[in-house]
Amino acid sequence: MSASRPAAVIVLAAGEGTRMKSRTSKVLHELCGRSMLGHVLAAAAGLEPERTLVVVGHRREQVVEHLAQHAPDAETVVQERQGGTGHAVRMVLEQVGALRGTVVVTNGDHPLLRGETLADLVRTHEAEGNAATVLTTEMPDATGYGRMVRGADGSVQAIVEHKDADEAQRAIREINVGMYAFDGALLADALKRVTTDNANGEEYLTDVVAIVRGDGHRAGAHLVADWVETQGVNDKVQLAQARRQLNDRILEAHMRAGVTVVDPSSTWVDAQVTLEADAEILPGTQLHGATRVEAGARVGPNCTLTDTRVGAGAVVINAVCVQAEIGPDASVGPFAYLRPGTRLGRKAKVGTYVETKAAEIGEGTKVPHLTYVGDAEIGEYSNIGASSVFVNYDGVEKHQSVIGSHVKVGSDNMIVAPVEIGDGAYTAAGSVIVQDVPPGAMGVARARQRNIEGWVERKRPGSPAAEAARRARAAGEDTPGDGAPGGA
Ligand code: UD1
Ligand code: MG
Repeated sequence: MSASRPAAVIVLAAGEGTRMKSRTSKVLHELCGRSMLGHVLAAAAGLEPERTLVVVGHRREQVVEHLAQHAPDAETVVQERQGGTGHAVRMVLEQVGALRGTVVVTNGDHPLLRGETLADLVRTHEAEGNAATVLTTEMPDATGYGRMVRGADGSVQAIVEHKDADEAQRAIREINVGMYAFDGALLADALKRVTTDNANGEEYLTDVVAIVRGDGHRAGAHLVADWVETQGVNDKVQLAQARRQLNDRILEAHMRAGVTVVDPSSTWVDAQVTLEADAEILPGTQLHGATRVEAGARVGPNCTLTDTRVGAGAVVINAVCVQAEIGPDASVGPFAYLRPGTRLGRKAKVGTYVETKAAEIGEGTKVPHLTYVGDAEIGEYSNIGASSVFVNYDGVEKHQSVIGSHVKVGSDNMIVAPVEIGDGAYTAAGSVIVQDVPPGAMGVARARQRNIEGWVERKRPGSPAAEAARRARAAGEDTPGDGAPGGA
C-alpha cells in the first residue's frame, strides 16, 4: 500500500542546541553536502506533503535565509519563546489554521533518517487508522529519551520523558525517536489540552499520545529495527559520527551500483554527487556538491572536487577542482588547481603545478607544467610551454587571451592580455607577448643574447667558477677544432 500525501510535514527547528557550542544554528551544521535540516527536508520531500512548515526560533535569521536559498517551498513559522515541542506545534496550527488529514511532525536534527522510513510511518498510521503514530526504536542506551509505555496487550498508552519517568519506566528500551504521524484535527484539539505539569515546565508534544488515547482514539507505533538511523545530533561528536555513517551509506549505494571505491574510509562523497558505474575513486578523495564522475573516469588519489564534471575515461590525480568541466579522456594533475569556469575538451591535458581559471582548453591541447591560464580560450591540439603565465590582470581589470589551434607557445612565455595568437603560430621561449601573433607566424619577444667572453676569469679570479672555466678553455685549446657546431 502506498502512503497518501500528508497535509503537512512540520519540522521542529527552534531549539537552541546548546551542546553544539556554536554561533551557527544547530540544524544548519553540515554533513555530506547538506545541512542537518536539509537532510530532514530531503527525507520529508519523499512524502510529497502539501505543505512543509519549519518552526524557527533560535538564530532564526540564519535558518530563514538558509531555507530561502535551499528549500524555497518551505514555509517558516516563528516560535518566539521555546515553550516545548507541543507549544511549537500549537504555534504552527494557530498560525496556519486547521490542517485536515495526516500531519507528520519531525525533529530537525536527525540527518540519518531515510525518506522510506518516514513513508513507512505514514503507511502504518493510515493502515491502522491511528490518531497518533510514533516512530520508535530500541536503543542500547535510552538515557535522555522519551520511553514508550505500552499496556498489557502491547498497545501504546503514553510517552514518558526520561526526567519524568520512574525506575520501572526508565528500564523500558523502546524510545520515541521524535517523529510522528497525527490526524490533523485530533492533534489540534489535543494540543489545547497539553499542560506544562512536568519536570521541564514545557508543553510536551509527546503528551498528545495519552490525550488521544483518553478520548478513545487509537495510538500506535512504527518500530525501526536500525536504531543508528534514528540517532539525533546534539554535539559535534555526534555530528562527526553521523557524517561517517551517512558517508558509509552513500558509498555503499555507489559501490552496489558499480562504482569502484578503493578506500571507503578515506573517501567522502556528498549526497548529491553522481557517479556512473565503472567510475573509480582512489584514496583520499572528496567529492562535493553537484560533482559528476562518468563511466571509466579515475579520480584520485587525493582529489577534492566541487561541482565538477569529470568526463568518461578522464584521469584526475592530486587535484583541486571547483566548478570545472573535464572532458572525456582528458588528464588533470598531479598537483593541478582548476578554478571556476575551466573547461577541458576531449583528451586535453592540464599537468603538474598548473592553475586554470575561466579557461576554455580545446580538444587535445596540452598545458603540461608550471603554468597559469586565466581568462583564456585555447583551440585544439595546441601546446603551452612550461612555466608560462597568462597575464590577465592589469591591476584594474581582467582581460582575455585567445589562442588558436595547433599553436606552440614556447616555454616561459608571458601572454599579456588582451592578445590573440592565430592558428598554427609559434612563439619563442622566454617571450613576453604583448601584441597579436598572426596565424602561422613565429612571435619572438625577447632581447637577443650576447656573450661577454672571459668575463668570469676577469671579474671572479680565483673562484671555483673561474677555475672551471680555465680548465675548460685549456682542454679546448688541446683539441683544436672540436667546438660545438654552429657555436658563435
Ligand atoms: C524529544 C522528545 C522525546 C524524544 C526525543 C528524541 C518531547 C517532549 N520529547 O525530547 O520523547 O525521545 O525528542 O530526540 O518532545 N523544539 C522547538 N521548540 C521548542 C522545543 C524544541 O522547535 O520549544 C525543537 C528542537 O529544536 C528539536 C526538537 O524540537 O529539533 C526536539 O526538542 P528537544 O528539546 O531536543 O527534545 P528532547 O528533550 O530531545
Ligand atoms: Mg533532542
